[in-house]
Amino acid sequence: MNIKKFALASLAVAGLIFLGCKAGQSYGENEIGLRKSTLFNEDAKIERIDYSGKAAGESELIERAFENAPPMISHNVEDMLPITKENNSCTSCHLPGVAEAVAATPMPKSHFYNFRDNVDMKENMDETRFNCVICHATQVSATPLVENKFTPDFRKENGNIKSNLLDVINEGVN
Ligand code: HEC
Ligand code: HEC
Repeated sequence: MNIKKFALASLAVAGLIFLGCKAGQSYGENEIGLRKSTLFNEDAKIERIDYSGKAAGESELIERAFENAPPMISHNVEDMLPITKENNSCTSCHLPGVAEAVAATPMPKSHFYNFRDNVDMKENMDETRFNCVICHATQVSATPLVENKFTPDFRKENGNIKSNLLDVINEGVN
């Protein structure tokens, strides 16, 4: 598509959106967010947080959402959060070496690699991995607010239960 045609098409789409908004109903500030309450303060919560999962060592692993997705935390995290500079209980079980002894999944090779400077950190965890829960989600029994129809495709047979990001990260890159 040349630039002129693209500009015309964009105008048409913008026009349709404009008309659509005018014809449809308007929404109040209480209806826009998932919380269904005012967006102007932080008092409302979506749902009571209740980490009712089983204790570490007793839980069942949850299948990965897609290839190399960060696995969900299958166990309770009571008394493990917040992670602070002085205290990170996650590493006390998940660092390779310890993990095997407590039957936890060891942290993968990607967590011991500095992607910014391209440095293999060997047995030292890269500091960007310190706060596990920015990527690994705790579990709550709650009905999803929005239905999700995504179904993942795994290229490797065990891709739904194993990670290997560091081995495949350069696939397709020349
Ligand atoms: C007392 C040891 C212990 C602590 C502390 C711990 N875990 Fe675990 N974790 C386990 C064990 C054992 C499993 C395997 C499932 C089971 O047996 O419950 C596991 C499973 C997991 C999994 C799923 C891995 C997979 O392959 O699907 C993730 C993710 C995880 N833990 C993250 C964390 C995070 C993040 C923290 C800190 C908030 C944490 N764990 C603290 C022992 C622990
Ligand atoms: C920046 C996001 C991020 C942070 C922070 C992070 N992880 Fe991960 N983690 C991932 C992703 C993505 C994967 C899966 C892909 C991979 O790296 O191989 C993963 C995989 C894992 C696995 C599964 C390993 C396997 O062999 O299947 C474990 C266990 C794990 N992480 C534990 C931790 C713990 C414990 C921490 C904190 C000390 C942590 N992670 C911090 C993103 C993160």
